[in-house]
This record gives sequence, structure tokens and C-alpha cells, in this order.
Amino acid sequence: MKDNFIHKNNCRICGASDLVKILDLGEMPPANAFLRKEDLNKPEPKFPLVVYFCNNCGLLQLLDVVNPEILFSHYDYLTSASKPLADHFTKMGLELAEKFIKSKDDLIVEIGGNDAVLLASIKDKCRVLNIEPAGNVAEISKQKGVETIDEFFTEKLAKKIFEKYGPVKIIVANNVMAHIDDIKDVFRGVKILIGDDGTFVFEVHWVGNLIGNGGFDQIYHEHLYYYSLLALENLVSQFGLKIFNAESVSIHGQSLRVYVGGRNFSVSESVGQFLEKEKELRLDRAETFLKFSERAKKNREELQNLLRRLKQGGKKIIGYGAPAKGNTLLNYCWIDNNILDFITDTTPLKQGLYTPGTHISVVSPEKIKEVNPDYILLLAWNYAEAILEKEKDLREKGIKFIIPVPRIKVI
Ligand code: TMP
Ligand code: ZN
Repeated sequence: MKDNFIHKNNCRICGASDLVKILDLGEMPPANAFLRKEDLNKPEPKFPLVVYFCNNCGLLQLLDVVNPEILFSHYDYLTSASKPLADHFTKMGLELAEKFIKSKDDLIVEIGGNDAVLLASIKDKCRVLNIEPAGNVAEISKQKGVETIDEFFTEKLAKKIFEKYGPVKIIVANNVMAHIDDIKDVFRGVKILIGDDGTFVFEVHWVGNLIGNGGFDQIYHEHLYYYSLLALENLVSQFGLKIFNAESVSIHGQSLRVYVGGRNFSVSESVGQFLEKEKELRLDRAETFLKFSERAKKNREELQNLLRRLKQGGKKIIGYGAPAKGNTLLNYCWIDNNILDFITDTTPLKQGLYTPGTHISVVSPEKIKEVNPDYILLLAWNYAEAILEKEKDLREKGIKFIIPVPRIKVI
């Protein structure tokens, strides 16, 4: 891609042009484009953030695609910084090894394996290879003793991997399938590597969770796709592959774990059951998503009113966690450094930086004790349970947490 962004007119799974506009979040900077102090006065690139639904295949998607070099060549997100996430992927690695790995020579490849939490947990059981395009994150993966290729996964790279390492037993791709514009190129590469006997396992945010318990804040430029199993079936079947198992996993609210294989795999009942559930939830209808859009607008209004009222009452408010989704929320609701004094985050790479668009300083959690806020806006609300437990002491001191989406709760 030569330009900073392109607008598409067709669905990227089925090519149809019958697309319904669902929610327009306005022009926004990329959600992970945290700023250094010296960049605060420079103009920030902003791009349209609008979600569309394909009436033909049921895929919810963005049509404005930001150049991946802008989004992914440097990344401040580390899997290891969120303990619940790191625990989840360590467990997943061990489960996959148990189920599919037969010998130490078997190879597992992870697409976008970040700082190699999953691969490091099984590197003494088989050969492991991380394909991580963010140079700074790939470096951390290498330091953990995991062989890492610092590139985007493409069909071309898959051919090179096949020549050098041979067939792959398992390909894993967690929380990256929504990020890749040319997803068909990825499937062509996967097909080369897994042949008939290997398995491709991936986790994606499930669109049913976005609609049911999730928030509009999960929408940002990196997430080009909001998958249902139905839309994934339409995609996978184009490559002579099949989804042979589908599970719901409780991470990021509720995610979808999908197992894809060649003709040697038989399809488990779970697939049909999941598709049935999606039908009951009417995830194949544009109306379902338009209702979600109305709720998002109402949610914004209520949150703005609450924060304005607290601020006028002289309350001190800070943010907790600086996830990408927090930046959608802050920009869409226009909550800036006049409302939040700062945001804490456990990721060392984010500390010392400022939130894109809203310019709120990100600092270490140590700072909370020093300032004693009245309210904490929980931007990493997907970890609410773990965080409320971890921060019991703050709550006992009378500090209240505001959970902003999908419905505002003050606890
Ligand atoms: P995620 O929702 O995309 O995994 O991002 C969560 C962000 O929140 C990440 O930047 C790490 C941060 N975080 C904290 O600051 N404290 C915590 O206790 C947890 C679980 C996450
Ligand atoms: Zn479509």
C-alpha cells in the first residue's frame, strides 16, 4: 500500500457491494499510536472509523484501511503485560502441545506471536517459530530464546518457511486475524504450510460478544473484521479447508477459538451448534447491528454526562489501563486531559507516553497511591474482575471504579 489509507467499496470476504453503514465513530488517530512528549504539538494523522455490515455474507467490517506499516511496524502492546492474557495463552500453548504434538521435531508457527508468551511455554516440547512484524516486539521474543521472523505473514513468506523448515504441525494466530486486510493471502500461506495433516488454530473477538456484552470501544482501525463463525465459514471454504471445531473462550469478554484443517479432519458437532446459536442471536441481520449502534450513542452520552458532573463537583478522576480500545472510547466520547489527570498502565513501553488524540499521560500504577483519586475510569474493563480483586485496597479506601461499557457501572 503506497498511501496512508485506502477506502474499499466491496466486502473483503465475498466481494459484494451491498454494505450497510452501522456506526460512524468519526475521524480518529490509530488506537495504538501513543505519542512521545516531543510529538504532542505535531499534527496527528487521523482516519475515518466507520463499521459496515455485508448483507450478503454477514461480515461486519471496516472499509477504510490504514497502511499496516503505520499500525504495526512499531507496537507498544505486550501480551505479557496483562497477566490474565498471559495465563490464557500459556495454558493454550500447553493444551495444543498435548493435543497435537507427537515429537520434538514437530513445528509450531505463530502468526503475530507478540512477545512469545505462548511459544516460550512450549519451546522445550517442539520446534517453535514466531512471525512477528513489530520489530521492537520481535526483539523481545528473540531474547526469550524463540526463533522469530520480523515480517508480515504472507503466502510468499509461507513458501520460504516451507522450504527452510518443512511442513508445519500447528499454526496459531491469536487476535491477529481481524488485523490483516488481505486475509485470503494468509489462508493461501496457511494451506501451503499445513497441507492435509496440520491444523490452523486461531482466536478472534466474536461479534456476538461485541453485540451482547461488549462495547463499541473494541472498534478501531486495527480491527478490520468483526467475525462471526458464519462469516468465517464463508471465508475458510474458499481455500479447500474446513472449520472442524469451534469453541467459545472467555478472554476479551468472549472470544471464538476456531480449528481449521484439510480433508483428513472430521467436523465436530460444535460447529453446527455454534452456527445455530449465531442464527438465534440474529447475527446474520443488519438490524441487530443497527440496534447496537443506537446503544453505543446512548452509552457515550451517559458517560460524558457522568464525567462532566463529577468534574464539576471537583472530583479527581484517573484512568486505569491504556488499551487500544481505551483510545476509541476516549476519542469517541471526547474524554481528554481536562477530565483524566493521567492513566496508569502496567506495560513499561507505554509508560511515559501520551494517548493519541486526547493527550493524557500514561504512567506506572505506582502513581495511584501518591494522588488518591476519587474515581478511576476502568478502560481495561475486560479485566474488571481480576483488576477489582487486585485493587481491593483502593476500593476499601473509598475510591470508586467506573466501568464505562457496555453499560455504565460505578462500584
Ligand atoms: P488488552 O485489553 O488489549 O489486553 O489491554 C489491556 C491493557 O491494560 C494493557 O496495556 C495492559 C493494561 N493492564 C493494566 O494496566 N493493569 C492490569 O491489571 C491489566 C490486567 C492490564
Ligand atoms: Zn460479504
